[in-house]
Amino acid sequence: MSFIQLRQLTKQYKQAEQPAVDHIELEIEKGEIITLLGPSGCGKTTTLRMIAGFEQPTSGVINIGGSEVFGEKTYVPPEKREIGMVFQDYALFPHLTIEKNVVFGLNKWSTREKKARAKEVLELVGLAEYGKRYPNELSGGQQQRVALARALAPRPHVVLMDEPFSNLDAGLRERMRYDVTSILRKANTTAIIVTHDQKDAFAVSDRVVVMNQGVIQQIATPRDMYRCPKNCFVAQFVGKTNLLTGTLCSDLKHVDTYIGRVSLPTQSEKIIEDVRVSIRPEGCRLAENGRYSGKVERVTYSGEYQEVEVRLGERDLSSEPMVVYAPVEQEIEIGAVISFDIKPELVALVEV
Ligand SMILES: Nc1ncnc2c1ncn2[C@@H]1O[C@H](COP(=O)(O)OP(=O)(O)O)[C@@H](O)[C@H]1O
Ligand SMILES: [Mg+2]
Repeated sequence: MSFIQLRQLTKQYKQAEQPAVDHIELEIEKGEIITLLGPSGCGKTTTLRMIAGFEQPTSGVINIGGSEVFGEKTYVPPEKREIGMVFQDYALFPHLTIEKNVVFGLNKWSTREKKARAKEVLELVGLAEYGKRYPNELSGGQQQRVALARALAPRPHVVLMDEPFSNLDAGLRERMRYDVTSILRKANTTAIIVTHDQKDAFAVSDRVVVMNQGVIQQIATPRDMYRCPKNCFVAQFVGKTNLLTGTLCSDLKHVDTYIGRVSLPTQSEKIIEDVRVSIRPEGCRLAENGRYSGKVERVTYSGEYQEVEVRLGERDLSSEPMVVYAPVEQEIEIGAVISFDIKPELVALVEV
């Protein structure tokens, strides 16, 4: 049995028309780092708060570490769930030293045990020298590591983190993605992290859970999520993509679209006539005599690559132009005709 289980978990807020979280099913293994990813309002925080016990589910079951903490006849209060919570604003106590902050939840421990544990977790987060300081004497990244140390101190079943990177600027954010994962790995903790940022999610997790409007869209490793998005929402939310309508050929290996025939990485398992195909911009490689060609409408320089918008054919003027990525050294003029090939590995059949 997996370490954490959510069964048909649902939250219907009183005044709301639709449930904030709608019959979600999720199983998490011990030691796994899972991210709930989705746009604002999709139900991530509500899910996390239900797991923590701060929010009462409308229905469903929550199991943690082999015992039911919420069910038809069960309600275990937050302080008894053995959960470590890291809040978005860290919520450190400004009048307590870092050491005292870290041991705050260890009520039943002796003074000596507390001291030893504080030392241990502060070492774990790389702040062994900072025990006597106060929160306002630390940087944002250090404060976050203190919050994580405090969450880990009682050796919880699971650590929950709500948007842990959103208060950090770009450089520090990348650093903290790395630090947080390596701390969680070293502590061998199960963790559920909430974020609306795909890059955060991919960088820190074993598996990603994409949610939209309270419903789980897909659960997969970052690699599988990117390569094989299940539906149009996931394909668009996780990275940039071109979505085209088309018809699946009888060999189940190609799709006819308005830009021409597109090869799939593997044969489709189902016979579906009208399909959607997702083509990643980096799967389109400029080539002298490429299979597809069109007129350049726009070029956006990003530093790492150029994002080129290409109009292929006259058929579909209302639709978006294709987006392809080109190397920065290549000179591309607006109005020019360019041609490219498509790597099948970055093509996926997706549900509507
Ligand atoms: N206490 C509340 N009362 C009523 N509606 C709420 C409450 N908290 C959240 N919601 C609504 O539930 C939905 C999901 O919210 P939330 O879980 O905070 O989303 P996320 O964290 O993904 O941005 C939103 O539509 C939000 O407005
Ligand atoms: Mg939220």
